[in-house]
Amino acid sequence: MLNPSTSTVGRVALRGDLLDFTAEPGWGEVESDAVRFRPDHWLLIENGRITGAQTAEPDASWQRHDHRGKLILPGFIDTHVHMPQLDVIASYGTELLDWLNTYTFPAETRFADPAHSQAGAELFVAALLANGTTAAVVFPTAHKVSAEALFASARQRGMRLVTGKVLQDRHSPDGLRDDVVQARNDCIDLIRRWHGVDRLAYAVTVRFAPTSTPEQLAMAGELCAADPTLYMQTHVAENRAEVEWVKQLFPQARSYLDVYASAGLLHRRSVLAHGVWLDDADRAALRQSGAQIAHSPSSNLFLGSGLFDWTASLASGSAVSLATDVGGGTSLSMIRTMADAYKVQAMAGQRLTAWKALHSATLGSAHALLLADEIGSLEAGRVADVCVWDWAADPVAKRRMEVARSLHERAFAWMTLADDRNLVQAWVAGALRHQRPSG
Ligand code: GUN
Ligand code: ZN
Repeated sequence: MLNPSTSTVGRVALRGDLLDFTAEPGWGEVESDAVRFRPDHWLLIENGRITGAQTAEPDASWQRHDHRGKLILPGFIDTHVHMPQLDVIASYGTELLDWLNTYTFPAETRFADPAHSQAGAELFVAALLANGTTAAVVFPTAHKVSAEALFASARQRGMRLVTGKVLQDRHSPDGLRDDVVQARNDCIDLIRRWHGVDRLAYAVTVRFAPTSTPEQLAMAGELCAADPTLYMQTHVAENRAEVEWVKQLFPQARSYLDVYASAGLLHRRSVLAHGVWLDDADRAALRQSGAQIAHSPSSNLFLGSGLFDWTASLASGSAVSLATDVGGGTSLSMIRTMADAYKVQAMAGQRLTAWKALHSATLGSAHALLLADEIGSLEAGRVADVCVWDWAADPVAKRRMEVARSLHERAFAWMTLADDRNLVQAWVAGALRHQRPSG
């Protein structure tokens, strides 16, 4: 980690091509008034917040970083990712339920060990920043200590992070199952100690309906009802075999989503990963509740789960954010995720613009999480979570940029070709937290 004494200063100015959004771009719109592009500007940051942007070079009272010719974006927001799954990323040959039993549950069981949890959380948070992700909604494991480790690692870096101990009291191996009473006590204690501390927030975290008893789902719903500032995160309708299993386990429910709705888990701060196998009634319920789907294209492709219907969500008026879902997803890069999202939509004959993708990874997610006054844009007053990127990092990308004729063409080529190697710096609340090694 960088030395905090050198990484935190009062006044910082970053020069580069500033790109962010002032509104939501329309589907298919390659020219959009929602895009704000300020080429070769200085972004001004004072005491951790963005205070403005200008073309003139600020005076020597500012610590100036001249990144002319580079791209400056708000830090990415990953709305669904698993801290303990770096150990199982890129595991061969399974769909969701086998993947969980074969690889994921055994790996997560090891996070009962506090030292393992701490090392895992440190590696994970550093890896987020190395990918330009400055805010995230994260699953740890069922172990209280894994949530503690994640909160502590994020807090040390001043990051916006939402997480909470995973609830799973059935259909899980020894060492990864909790029970309703202990889980409730752990949640209450974690909420008291971490929710609202600095930039941290607690999410009531139900793994998914098959691994929680109805009693545990009811308990989770009661926690949400007791404090409407809590988030809720879970998985929904990811895989066809999983959906069938939920039907058997909850025969009275109208749908998989309805299991959560009936337990009081569908609300404005609910983040539900996947939603590949939803119907129109589900999408209407999502819109009504204000909950969001964390679309995870890399994971959906890798685990063979299915193709998410983004335009159906859009038509229903329900919110969609973007997520890596590592380790079902194969990269922590939100850029790789955007490129995968484009390809998933292409399979349905739809076209995801660079604007829609970038908006979903920044301001759109911030809005969906009710955090748009803090993160997601380069607007004055926002916390300075900002990343500096190379427009191109190799000869092929450089050539592609040279011949691009419009801003959208450049942005789309960037989103399709770039990855973590393009990241030059990541700033969190005005402090430099990741710097590309030179050489
Ligand atoms: N459903 C329940 N748990 C998981 C998980 O860890 N990853 C994914 N992709 N889906 C899940
Ligand atoms: Zn997941």
